[in-house]
Amino acid sequence: MSFFVLLLVKMDVPAKGNILGRFISARYILAVLGSIGMAIVYGLKVNLSVAMVGMLNHTAIKMNEGKPDHGSHNNTLAEVDCEPVTSSAHAKEADGPFTWSTEIQGIILSCYFWGYFVSQIPGARIAELFSAKWVMFFSVSINVVCTLLTPVMAQAHHAAVVVMRIGEGIGGGVTFPAMHVLLSKWAPPAERSVMAALVYAGTSLGTVISMLMAGVLTANLGWESVFYVMGGLSCIWCVLWVLLVQDSPQQQALISKEERDLIVTSLGGKADDHDHKKLPVPWKSVLTSGPFLAILVAHACSNWGWYMLLIELPFYMKQVLKFNMAENAVATALPFLSLWFFSLGLSKTLDWLRGKSYITTTTARKIGTLFASVVPATCLLVLCYVGCNRGAAVAFTAIGVTAIGGMFCGFLSNHIDIAPNFAGTLMAMTNTVATIPGIVVPIFVGVLTHGNQTISAWRVIFFVTIGLYLIEIVVYTLFGSGEQQPWNQVQQTKEDQPEEKL
Ligand SMILES: *[C@@H]1O[C@H](CO)[C@@H](O)[C@H](O)[C@H]1NC(C)=O
Repeated sequence: MSFFVLLLVKMDVPAKGNILGRFISARYILAVLGSIGMAIVYGLKVNLSVAMVGMLNHTAIKMNEGKPDHGSHNNTLAEVDCEPVTSSAHAKEADGPFTWSTEIQGIILSCYFWGYFVSQIPGARIAELFSAKWVMFFSVSINVVCTLLTPVMAQAHHAAVVVMRIGEGIGGGVTFPAMHVLLSKWAPPAERSVMAALVYAGTSLGTVISMLMAGVLTANLGWESVFYVMGGLSCIWCVLWVLLVQDSPQQQALISKEERDLIVTSLGGKADDHDHKKLPVPWKSVLTSGPFLAILVAHACSNWGWYMLLIELPFYMKQVLKFNMAENAVATALPFLSLWFFSLGLSKTLDWLRGKSYITTTTARKIGTLFASVVPATCLLVLCYVGCNRGAAVAFTAIGVTAIGGMFCGFLSNHIDIAPNFAGTLMAMTNTVATIPGIVVPIFVGVLTHGNQTISAWRVIFFVTIGLYLIEIVVYTLFGSGEQQPWNQVQQTKEDQPEEKL
């Protein structure tokens, strides 16, 4: 397949007549490859939590940690643990070679965020000032390399796995800002919701594919194969990305003249304008902007819920609802597939309604955000009270995760509306703050459930999450905006007065 593409490119470049561009729209090639890139980064991030079940020697870990809690520890609580599904449910779960304690497991799963945390703002500035294409390439490549090295590193020492995960996190951190910079140059405003949803919903597609693949690979070929197969397949993307994607429509040869004109004029630029605008970030205006702070709050609160469902739900399913691994992978992965369909459907609908002038961009962003907050909060509330009813728990989890898809065309594409010139930096700022829940959630859950895997312990966790969703709903509904902010345009050079531009 990549050979075929190579051939196309070879035929195409000298003529500048773009055979490819005549048949396929270049902006959707960007969106689809961007989406696959997001899927790879997220897939390589979540595969560890599945593979780890096969990597650990559960027998030895239980012997080391289980002694004090054994016996009648839970009998004083109002409810008992759920019964296992069948007695054979645990037979399939073979022991692996590693005797990492619960604390070490927690560090390995959370250290991804240390890298993710520090790389975003530098990555965003490099993407804005130099090249978002190459920042995105770097991001996926470093994930592929670290994934391929993980099995060897794990044999050496658990600290080496921590280093690999930090490396993956550094790559993961720059994906959202880099894609935001590309979208700000490639997405006509009327298609912004759909293109953003297509790109970012790749994260959920990556999650679903990775969880299912990691489950199947661990069970059949051993845990090492998870890293080798997924890392290997991801290399194909790197080649396609370099060949088929450019930083802006002006730099892209594989595009029809009509499409280039359409994109560039819809964004208010000139089709032959090649130079980068290297604007300094108006930090003070950004940090005092109501619409920006509303995105910040929505992003941080939403991510708490997102990480809760993405990372902690598999543990809840396993520890409290007593699913075996295969059921576990399917039950937690499938909602992400419905999230993907929902986010694309909703974004298409909202773009259509905006196109017909039935709603403003502001209203569209708020509708998306409300879906992504009200529904999961309600589902978590229900989850607190369905107890050991696994069917209901799975169903409401699925509904909650699905509705989270509203965020992609809600607050998550809002940065480009309010300040397209700084979309990458703004995304990096909100996403950096939104990373804090990713660090806090595993620790918070670990502390509350240590030796106490009960529904009542998890209920506290769910209520905290619901509280954060309520904050998001109030703040974003009051202060969110879809209008371009004046500070997006203000400085050209120090001598230029803003009046000239207006
Ligand atoms: C797991 O640990 C137990 C107890 O230390 C040991 O007997 C067993 O061989 C280990 N299994 C593997 C696969 O390493």
